[in-house]
Amino acid sequence: MHDMVIRGGHVYIGGEIIECDIGINGERISEVGKNLKGDEVIDAGRKLILPGAVDCHVHFRDFREKHKETWETGSRAALRGGTVVVIDQPNTDPPIHDEGIFRKRMKLAERSSYVDFRVNLALTKENHSEIKKILEKVNPNAVGEVFLQHQSENFEIPYEILFEVRRNIRDIITVHAEDPEEIRDGKGGNWELRPPEAELKAVKKCSGQGDFYFCHVSLGSSVRLARSGNSQMEVTPHHLLLSTEDADSIMYNVNPPLRSEEERRSLISMLSEIDVIASDHAPHTFEEKREGFPGFPNVEFMYPLLLDMATRGVFSLKKLVERISENPARIFDIDGYGWIKEGFYASLAIFDIRNVSEIKTEKMYSMAEWTPFEGFSAIFPEKVILRGKLAFDNGEVLVKRGSGIEI
Ligand code: DOR
Repeated sequence: MHDMVIRGGHVYIGGEIIECDIGINGERISEVGKNLKGDEVIDAGRKLILPGAVDCHVHFRDFREKHKETWETGSRAALRGGTVVVIDQPNTDPPIHDEGIFRKRMKLAERSSYVDFRVNLALTKENHSEIKKILEKVNPNAVGEVFLQHQSENFEIPYEILFEVRRNIRDIITVHAEDPEEIRDGKGGNWELRPPEAELKAVKKCSGQGDFYFCHVSLGSSVRLARSGNSQMEVTPHHLLLSTEDADSIMYNVNPPLRSEEERRSLISMLSEIDVIASDHAPHTFEEKREGFPGFPNVEFMYPLLLDMATRGVFSLKKLVERISENPARIFDIDGYGWIKEGFYASLAIFDIRNVSEIKTEKMYSMAEWTPFEGFSAIFPEKVILRGKLAFDNGEVLVKRGSGIEI
């Protein structure tokens, strides 16, 4: 007897879809099999059951940027999209660069998050000589999105510091690879100001100095360069779905920028070489987007958009689940997530793949007021189970803020 049984789903197990039940005791999967009995039964009605997404690149803002997004709104949006774990990036205001701010961020997430979470630590000019010690104390397992700059007083750091830190620590270092020397200042579409050479140069320089985790690669040639070493990399939904052909205003600014149709297609064809799909959820207000602030609020659309692509045969479901759940859980050492199997957390999403809908801005859970994916087809989860609890059901959030835990 199990506490809960999800009955009769088409369950994704080890690359195959198997018609079976999932037995859950407490927070974990206790059995996967046929005719299981439970105190509570959820009838999956032959719908598709996938492991929840592990999104290792979100910017949940908050602190002094509550007008863009808060932990509460960002994590509700994640839940709506079938994402059960998020890793928050540290380019907040103030940045998460010392033990005090890190702990404050953790408290905020503990109080507010609907999904499970981890917070990355920032590498800055102020903290780089201390970073090893801070990492040992707070143990986040990764240094957050590092932005490069040659000379600056602020958040961005020069290559030399990045490479020195790479030699001194074992933790994953996630890098936003765009070389500042190749970026032009100015107003307008940033696909004109931030050329492919900026990304290629940064990926090449970094790859020559050690193993990194490259955030949001946007070019087939970056994938090849990063693969030539031992680095790992992620790609975003926008670089897989959008190109400069869609970009009809500076609302489409995102860093790294959208590229040509040809590049977009080459990223899709090279998906087997890319380790992770992550949202780079980067919310801004409508007014800010009109001024050209870079970034898209993707956390709630990532799984729905990509599952729709998989059902249309753009890539296989296996390729998707590996990159959206399994690989990020493995790379970032997130124990118990990423797979539907005995002993793992019962954190999963149930999708009716016949229920294809259109993305609508007015239905967004994120505070951001604009998405480049308006009108795109998507398959949203019908139900999301979070560590053994039905957390989301047909548009209704059934758990309280703060039910997410640090993992
Ligand atoms: O477009 C982006 N926006 N790219 C990034 O890497 C950062 C993000 C943000 O924080 O707004």
